[in-house]
Amino acid sequence: MTKQFETNILCIGAGYVGGPTMAVIAQKCPKVKVCVVDINKTRIDAWNSENLPIYEPGLDEVVKEARGRNLFFSTEIDKEIADAEIIFVSVNTPTKQYGIGAGKASDLQYWEKTARSIVAASNTNKIIVEKSTLPVRTAEAMERVLNSNDKGLHFEVLSNPEFLAEGTAIADLHNPDRVLIGSMETETGIKARKKLFDIYANWVPQEKIVTSNVWSAELTKLTANAFLAQRISSVNAISALCEATKADVKEISRAIGMDTRIGAKFLNASVGFGGSCFKKDVLNLVYIAESNGLPEVAQYWEWVIKMNEYQETRFVENMIKAMFNTVANKKIALLGFAFKKDTGDTRETPALFVSKKLAEERALITISDPKALENAKTDLKDLSGISYEIDPYVASRDSHAVAVLTEWDLYKTLDYEKIYKSMVKPAMIFDGRNILDHQKLFEIGFDVYRIGKQALLHSETAFI
Ligand code: NAD
Ligand code: UGA
Repeated sequence: MTKQFETNILCIGAGYVGGPTMAVIAQKCPKVKVCVVDINKTRIDAWNSENLPIYEPGLDEVVKEARGRNLFFSTEIDKEIADAEIIFVSVNTPTKQYGIGAGKASDLQYWEKTARSIVAASNTNKIIVEKSTLPVRTAEAMERVLNSNDKGLHFEVLSNPEFLAEGTAIADLHNPDRVLIGSMETETGIKARKKLFDIYANWVPQEKIVTSNVWSAELTKLTANAFLAQRISSVNAISALCEATKADVKEISRAIGMDTRIGAKFLNASVGFGGSCFKKDVLNLVYIAESNGLPEVAQYWEWVIKMNEYQETRFVENMIKAMFNTVANKKIALLGFAFKKDTGDTRETPALFVSKKLAEERALITISDPKALENAKTDLKDLSGISYEIDPYVASRDSHAVAVLTEWDLYKTLDYEKIYKSMVKPAMIFDGRNILDHQKLFEIGFDVYRIGKQALLHSETAFI
């Protein structure tokens, strides 16, 4: 280890979590050496360049401050494992697509491979920190893989799940609601927990650093995502009822959110939630409940996902119905492809579902997004009839309909008069994020379709 540093941290996995998390630890702890490794050389090269591999507000500045000082990105995994005292594992844990538990369970192949690499390359005792989201009791398996080594080494496994949300990752890391550290309740476990506690205490107020047993920490992460996803599915379920009853879901969200027992956040009805984690983590919880012989618990949580699929389907079916039950050869502009604003990430984005459904109906789709067009091209490479255009005005030109699928701020302030004039009439707008000024759009001339509130239509004979 380089002498100038007090501690040597390694993170395996340089993705949406590993990169920003380690950059902030390095920024806030200049005496700690932080290295991030990955098997993906292109990703590491990008972390070492001016063009970081992910878009995240504020990330460039943090990386610039720490990179080369105490933050390093490398592909020399074995060497860095050997040097490290604390190793975070932040590899991907996607939904398993094969064999037992296919479609629900976590695919732990990357995680187990990492554990085995750690054993093979280590010559000293180490603290291993589960940063990836994992099924409850994974730490037990990790301990067995790690501690069945014949080198006489001891590995202490901690669970330190990450709660950052994409698009606000740096703000979330700088000022987290809480940091959770779970350990075995043994002498070595508690000592390791203290070491990690002290690292976070460099910038996180101590009362916000919560400790627990390792199983609680693992299950807390899945529970947190399940509760957040459940809020969106709950409000989306009510949005469908609003459309049928002339109630307004925004008014309902505002009023129920003022109940301090409920709270105002995460009550925006939308085309559906996306992102790499909600679906996979809720399904993982469903699988864990099933595996523990608790079918009612499994079904309870599975409905959070089913409601999300219902909302996505409802949105695109409403579009088709409104467009006189045929979209074949009609140009439709989709504004936004990322799963939320301020990220280029498109994993599980509702826009993918909407695009595929419209393409099946032979619509001519133009996708616009300020940060996600490259990912969109990869996601939709097998579909024909799709074009990509960063300029929303060009994307909307000659279209029959425009649909807002990501809540990018820029879509709130577009010149919709100009867009309206350039479109085929009757011009329709579908606000999948409820962010636009609907009355104003209606006055411009659009037929306006929104989530959780009756549509504003110029003709009595409109289809919905
Ligand atoms: P990601 O796919 O962006 O990054 C994972 C990285 O791990 C990839 O770059 C991959 O190449 C690398 N990797 C895989 N196997 C490896 C190995 N054997 N050695 C070295 N590198 C390896 O994933 P992510 O979004 O960063 O998520 C990582 C974990 O964090 C997941 O478990 C996820 O559920 C959890 N999580 C994600 C978020 C989020 O907002 N994305 C938030 C909280 C928790
Ligand atoms: C989510 C959690 O918020 C993080 O705490 C967690 O760490 C992370 O998952 C994870 O484990 O990966 P993320 O998926 O990055 O973060 O983004 P969110 O802000 O949670 O948004 C998820 C989806 O829900 C987006 O598609 C968003 O547009 C949608 N959403 C969110 C709504 O439709 N309505 C809302 O009110 C809020």
